[in-house]
Amino acid sequence: MVSSTLAPVTGVRMDPHFFRFDERSEFDPEPVLDVLQGRRLGVIFRDVIPPAVREDMTARFWNSPGLTRRTGEPSYHVGAYHWNKPIDTYLAETGKVVQDVMGVLDVADSPWHWFRDRMNTRLSRDGARLRLAEMNGETACPALVRAWHKEGEYALEPHEDEAQCRDPRQAGFEVQQVLRYEVCATNMCIEHGSGGRLVLWNLRPDDESRRRFGIEHSGFSYPPETLDGFDRLTVDIRPGDVYVFNGRHVHAVDATIGNRTAVSFLLGFIDDETVVTWT
Ligand SMILES: [Fe+2]
Repeated sequence: MVSSTLAPVTGVRMDPHFFRFDERSEFDPEPVLDVLQGRRLGVIFRDVIPPAVREDMTARFWNSPGLTRRTGEPSYHVGAYHWNKPIDTYLAETGKVVQDVMGVLDVADSPWHWFRDRMNTRLSRDGARLRLAEMNGETACPALVRAWHKEGEYALEPHEDEAQCRDPRQAGFEVQQVLRYEVCATNMCIEHGSGGRLVLWNLRPDDESRRRFGIEHSGFSYPPETLDGFDRLTVDIRPGDVYVFNGRHVHAVDATIGNRTAVSFLLGFIDDETVVTWT
């Protein structure tokens, strides 16, 4: 008999026209807007970070004074993340590490800079702009640079990025307004062994499922067997790729051999003129 905790996750499925990835060989802000405005699941820009830039960023990451090992997880990072903590803690952690983060990002031809510049040029045509999320005059962390090196079925277990934007300990943080639009994620791959594919399910879980797993404000994680029966999309990831996707959909990273190091941040509209990013 199947136990009740392992009944399938319930939620919203999107139509097949939405549930697909665009693939491009050059960066273009238009398909990113398609993702931010809910017309497409995701887009991947192939090989848009030149090897010399990747090597520079990767070396700076591993040599960073801010390099931290996540307790109990096979992951290293430079940066702070808001997930599952009070907002004051996140902002204080950000303040301590922001210089180290910029030390990794501030390279010649940095994808973190050109992504924002190109998005802002495009958004300005609509009178809109992209900036760091704010709270009480303080800003969110510019990026989380993170290396996963976990084998097994999933290096990063199935989860979604919506629940974390409703944490009551973060009431008033701008990212909670993103829930009226789409909660999206950007990843810039600077080092990649093998495997480590992005897996997405055609499912936006409902609150009843979150409650059942006790992950109402974290979205982490959904037991893989509860996702059987939903359409699944797998995206190969290679060094130099930049991808953006709708984090409301359950997603995971599959088995990774070697380091999978990426510059990442979350992003979304908070009103028709403002896109904020955070980590
Ligand atoms: Fe995620």
